[in-house]
Amino acid sequence: MDLVEKIEKLKKEKDAIILAHNYQLDEVQAIADYTGDSLGLSQKAAQVEEETIVFCGVDFMAESAAILSPEKTVLLPEKNANCPMAEMITAAQLREKKEEYPQAAVVCYVNSSAAVKAESDICCTSSNAVEVVESLKEEQILFVPDQNLGHYVAQQTEKEIIFWDGYCITHHRVLAEHLNEVKELHPQAPVIVHPECRPEVVAGADYVGSTAQILNFAQQSEAETIIIGTEMGILYRLKNENPAKTFYILNQGLICKNMKLTSLTDVVQALENNQYQITVAAEIRVKAKQALNKMLELSR
Ligand code: 13P
Ligand code: SF4
Repeated sequence: MDLVEKIEKLKKEKDAIILAHNYQLDEVQAIADYTGDSLGLSQKAAQVEEETIVFCGVDFMAESAAILSPEKTVLLPEKNANCPMAEMITAAQLREKKEEYPQAAVVCYVNSSAAVKAESDICCTSSNAVEVVESLKEEQILFVPDQNLGHYVAQQTEKEIIFWDGYCITHHRVLAEHLNEVKELHPQAPVIVHPECRPEVVAGADYVGSTAQILNFAQQSEAETIIIGTEMGILYRLKNENPAKTFYILNQGLICKNMKLTSLTDVVQALENNQYQITVAAEIRVKAKQALNKMLELSR
């Protein structure tokens, strides 16, 4: 039996669903029951009927699934799959900053630990960050941990945004000069980037969005050639969904090694051995869930 057949069989035996982020390896996306951006994956994780969720992504995503569906078994097939940006802030550091800005509402990008979410008023993803900030009554917003997403939001709101100095090590590699070089090579092609890119890259793009929004834009665009500024795992769906279009990646450094750790063998072992189970302690989970649920209610 090959790995794909094994996964299908084990999924039925264990009553499991496989969720995968748009940056996962092609073969992992191919066996997933649902592939999406962080918002779509959280929405899905909050509603699944299956007993077990196998989360092919990075740790904060599986943690969010465990927060939203604590009665389910949530498995992260590769225990070292983490997000370096999420590690750029701790709950203790956030508490300290909150003391400095007692009037500010705390908006926390989902790329963060459960403990940081528990210290926040509301979560956001890259697809709803502006909407989340605008929904708050406070005029001062402490936005953590992604400075680039924070800057993107600041361009679109009158509110005062206080930034954290976290960033995505993958998207931060792209510089304005990379964008200019690609634009010279393909002057007709629209450039679509993720808001985790630097402000000067975002400023030069034709469209900015989450991975799901990038996929939608590409499908609706009449352009035959499109330049993509996000992690290259997205090319799998872009090419499958738009066989007649040509996609160029903005920079060859757009590869997140943590997103590439999960293999089909890891998925088989996750299902066979119930590993690695992600749980969140009740005192953190309840508060983190409030922050996540506020966001989900807004994005319904
Ligand atoms: P989205 O898929 O929500 O745009 O997230 C991007 C990302 O970097 C996740 O780690
Ligand atoms: Fe974290 Fe960036 Fe990798 Fe997403 S792409 S998991 S934000 S390091």
